[in-house]
Amino acid sequence: MKKKLSHVQLKLLAEKIILTIRNNDKKFFSQKSLAKRFKVKFENITSATELLTEWGYKLKFNSKDKSLNFLSSPDILSDTEIKYKLKTKVIGQNVLAYNRVKSTNDIASTMAMAKAKVPHGTIITANEQTRGRGRLGRSWHSPPGSGIYLSIILKPRFSPDKAPGISIMTALALAETINEFLPGKVQIKWPNDVFINGKKTSGILTELSAEKNKINYLIVGIGINVNQPPGSFPDEIKETATSIRKVLRKKTNRADLLKSFLLNFEKEYDLYCKNQLSDSLKRLKKYSYLQDKHVRIISGNEKIDGKVIGLSSDGSIILEQKKETISVASGEVTIDVQKT
Ligand code: BTN
Repeated sequence: MKKKLSHVQLKLLAEKIILTIRNNDKKFFSQKSLAKRFKVKFENITSATELLTEWGYKLKFNSKDKSLNFLSSPDILSDTEIKYKLKTKVIGQNVLAYNRVKSTNDIASTMAMAKAKVPHGTIITANEQTRGRGRLGRSWHSPPGSGIYLSIILKPRFSPDKAPGISIMTALALAETINEFLPGKVQIKWPNDVFINGKKTSGILTELSAEKNKINYLIVGIGINVNQPPGSFPDEIKETATSIRKVLRKKTNRADLLKSFLLNFEKEYDLYCKNQLSDSLKRLKKYSYLQDKHVRIISGNEKIDGKVIGLSSDGSIILEQKKETISVASGEVTIDVQKT
């Protein structure tokens, strides 16, 4: 006799059912045939479909012959939703999707440190972060159900001196993605912020573990403000932050945005591994928030002023000064509004 399923087995069954019925979205599936297909009791199919409804899937039931088909999926970042029609070869093919964590970057580092075999391209996502980390010791506002909080574990073969350019490469993949959903409004503020209409919608926190000539792993942490409603940001960032929803005036399915980003990230990463940013400079210029602006960069203890004339293929920013042209590898930028 077939046993009653545990909660984990029921969850797996629910995921199998959703994959089956959404791949054939015109066809009704009788619950009896699903029970036969998955070798479980009829009642398990009923419980699994109840679970799917709880998760927010919309299903159509035909009460006469107890059959069902697929109507729509909810805005959730489950591994099933992320993997469904994910077109990448490597990035994101191994997914760990959590509901609530302190920080996806912390989980990614712990995993990469402890498990030498964690595959290159593994991603960690969360529906909520209780201690989301930003650059320079800041925090990243990570409320449940509205943003994308993602960390990608990379195991590059290139040398550690090439790691810093990965942040701007990631910003380019983000800009390409947001531009698909919200054309013409996205810009990149060097070195790693993504803006919509002059306000920050996305940030990148890259963390490196390396020896002298070898990268052990690189964690690329990405936060995207997707569906935060207008007026929901805390006081400290309410003037400077925005979300895609605020500008688009409607919600975006986070799994769809994430999958598009993973594909763009994979393309940009492959280019970067071959030639650093050489093939991306034109596109970076198109999205540049700082191009031709007069800026001040705080880099370590130094204050550097100049006009931005472009980027170099390693990701440094190129500034024109009175007597010379210099490139700066990292720093915090402010625009000199009087000169610009
Ligand atoms: C910044 O602009 O300061 C960088 C923000 C990076 C936030 C992301 S959210 C996912 C990942 N986990 C974290 O704790 N931080 C990064």
